[in-house]
Amino acid sequence: MESGDKRITLQLMMAVGTAVIGSLQFGYNTGVINAPQKIIESFYNETWFDRYSTSIPETYLTTLWSISVAVFSIGGIFGSFSVGLFVNRFGRKNSMLMVNVLAFVAAALMGFSKMAASWEMLITGRFVVGLFSGLCTGFVPMYVGEISPTSLRGALGTLHQLGIVIGILLAQVFGLEALMGNMTMWPFLLGFTFIPAVVQCALLPLCPESPRYLLINLNQETRAKSVLKKLRGTTDVNADLQEMKDESRQMLREKKVTILELFLSPLYRQPIFIAIMLQLSQQLSGINAVFYYSTGIFERTGVAQPIYATIGTGVVNTAFTVVSLFVVERAGRRPLHLIGLMGMAISAVLMTIAMALIEKLKWMSYVSIVAIFSFVAFFEIGPGPIPWFIVAELFSQGPRPSAIAVAGFSNWTANFIVGMCFQYVEQLCGPYVFIIFTFLLLGFFIFTYFKVPETKGRTFDEITAGFRQNALGTEKYCPEELSSLGSDSQL
Ligand SMILES: *[C@@H]1O[C@H](CO)[C@@H](O)[C@H](O)[C@H]1NC(C)=O
Repeated sequence: MESGDKRITLQLMMAVGTAVIGSLQFGYNTGVINAPQKIIESFYNETWFDRYSTSIPETYLTTLWSISVAVFSIGGIFGSFSVGLFVNRFGRKNSMLMVNVLAFVAAALMGFSKMAASWEMLITGRFVVGLFSGLCTGFVPMYVGEISPTSLRGALGTLHQLGIVIGILLAQVFGLEALMGNMTMWPFLLGFTFIPAVVQCALLPLCPESPRYLLINLNQETRAKSVLKKLRGTTDVNADLQEMKDESRQMLREKKVTILELFLSPLYRQPIFIAIMLQLSQQLSGINAVFYYSTGIFERTGVAQPIYATIGTGVVNTAFTVVSLFVVERAGRRPLHLIGLMGMAISAVLMTIAMALIEKLKWMSYVSIVAIFSFVAFFEIGPGPIPWFIVAELFSQGPRPSAIAVAGFSNWTANFIVGMCFQYVEQLCGPYVFIIFTFLLLGFFIFTYFKVPETKGRTFDEITAGFRQNALGTEKYCPEELSSLGSDSQL
């Protein structure tokens, strides 16, 4: 496979493929507690009975289950914040290798929780695997970006997203009652995370360290060069080396901006606010209510085989992720995000109608399936991929690492809130729970419409100039300016 002077070598494929096992792990552990909810809840009930000789009160069960789901995101918060501690000290490859210890610990805790009759172990395991996932979501895009040639960086970078959704889908399929979603096998379902970890540990030693890390962090040009030669399958790697050097020089020129400065400086205040709001729009859209709880939701809307409907959401999710991979690079960020948010809002209304009328009209269960499928599809068109795109594009080298850390924190926190609160809110609101997401989605739509600038094909200077104008209150973000910068001014 050759495209001009940039080819996809076996070495490169192997390294990228090994790294995205980390993305798969994140997706798997996001989707895995969806299908076996009822089964694990009855394990909690039994365990409670054994300990206290009474069956578990409903509210305790809801709490325990919500914690089991959501503690994953608490781990994610800590994990995503710790990425920086690892990558520059141990290197990208060794960091990925090391943190697999967490996957083994988590798999053991969750896998043996039934044997030990301990939900504490399961919850701790979920926390540890969240920690691991948070780290992975930092490591994988960084490593893949740094080993890929510039011309393939975008395309290979999308494999991270693809790895996540395939992980979710795998978890849903394995969660089938005939496979591992049953009384005896569920510990294996949760412990399965052990297997990709073993595979990754076996393959990582054969993968190269990031040449960028070798050159810029360790200043080992010879080693960087030999790695590049293998990755590129050519002896002439001077252009690549030069590009890295230029990039690092540019980084030195631009002062690193701390998280505090990000909020205090008027220059960054508005873009960081936008970055946070976009992350919130992703998580508070309710998408994880679907990925964590869809089987339960389908059950309540009278779907005969809720687990198959859940697998359907995984298939739709994967299909539309592939669609969006082709669209995102070409289309503007703003229209995609707006379309996605509006589509999700409409799907949420449809979902509410289906849930409200299910008592009277049996066929509403089909409407609920359509509604959830289109909810997920629209998510992958806009609110799924766009927030990360825009955060990277709103900030130049200096403030970018801090901005991404803040964005990651907002994302995981909102993820936690939805995972933790959804069941309570659903018990309170009954069929109208998705109305809340509708309002949130419409709010984010309005915010995006008025506040979020188009970033595609614009330089940081142009984007910053727009914010400065806004801060001075002279001019609102004018659409003429955007369209004149239109789609063909690709940088
Ligand atoms: C727990 O199990 C008991 C007996 O098997 C059952 O009667 C009870 O409804 C269960 N409690 C909950 C909250 O599911």
